[in-house]
Amino acid sequence: MASEKTIRIHSPATVANMVCGFDILGFAVNEPYDEMRIRCKDEPGIVIVNEDDYHLPTQPEKNVAGAALLALMDELESPVGFELFIRKQIKPGSGVGSSAASAAGAVVAANRLLQDRFSKEDLVRFAMNGEKLASGVKHADNIAPCIYGGVTLIRSIFPLDIIGITAPPLYVTIVHPQIEVRTSDARGILKQQVLLKDAIRQWGNIAGLVAGLLQGDYQLIGRSLEDVLIEPVRSILIPGFDKVKKLSKEAGALGGGISGSGPSIFMLSENETTARAVEKQMKEVYESLSLAYHTYVTTINQSGVTFVEE
Ligand code: HSE
Repeated sequence: MASEKTIRIHSPATVANMVCGFDILGFAVNEPYDEMRIRCKDEPGIVIVNEDDYHLPTQPEKNVAGAALLALMDELESPVGFELFIRKQIKPGSGVGSSAASAAGAVVAANRLLQDRFSKEDLVRFAMNGEKLASGVKHADNIAPCIYGGVTLIRSIFPLDIIGITAPPLYVTIVHPQIEVRTSDARGILKQQVLLKDAIRQWGNIAGLVAGLLQGDYQLIGRSLEDVLIEPVRSILIPGFDKVKKLSKEAGALGGGISGSGPSIFMLSENETTARAVEKQMKEVYESLSLAYHTYVTTINQSGVTFVEE
């Protein structure tokens, strides 16, 4: 039985890849987040109402939230109707999981209307259809942390195997230079083959990062935040990237790199004072380049999509 209620949620931004874990690691952050509401409607189908200025498509099959909802509705025995209101605060094309927040938020909220009949893993499966629409490929390194919260490892997507990774307290500084990098373009320029020596270095870093997180070893986390496969190719799309990285580390950041497919850059720090010092460096880089930017100093979101009381 569908509910009469309106469900309100906050759907968090996410940082995919976590530098070395292309397509397999990601974490959710407390700022920014999208606001969404959903309610059932009498006629079957999906109506999407945008309550922001991004002019995203409202046809369900062309909208990432719509594509995710359609996948969910495919697994229901009887037709149902949803009316979805989206107020995005995560700018599309920013590299902090804007499409994932819409897709994941929509299915988590719809599932609550359906008395939580689907598991979190089911919801990730549905929401990946939104990512397919946005980037051409199903990947869950934004969707999984958005739904589960915290740091997640996606060991496999077919079949889904999602592992939550406990992390010590970390501060996250994000700078979003105001240019748009389409995930499909940022994926299109990647090499399809890698050298064995580079692969060895990369999986050493991934294992080191996961061990560092689990053991709360900040120095190991910092050493492991290195990407020899993807960053050398993608960083050329991001003005000021090398400078931001160098100055952030000098300011005390543990390390960081491209957030998802960019153009946002993120840095991890042990404490807020360092995270603010990193923010200052980031601002100075983009001031000197006369490029508009936006920064966030935030922490890891442990709960994923959250329900908000009406
Ligand atoms: N892992 C994906 C990529 C994340 O880097 O293309 C996109 O946000």
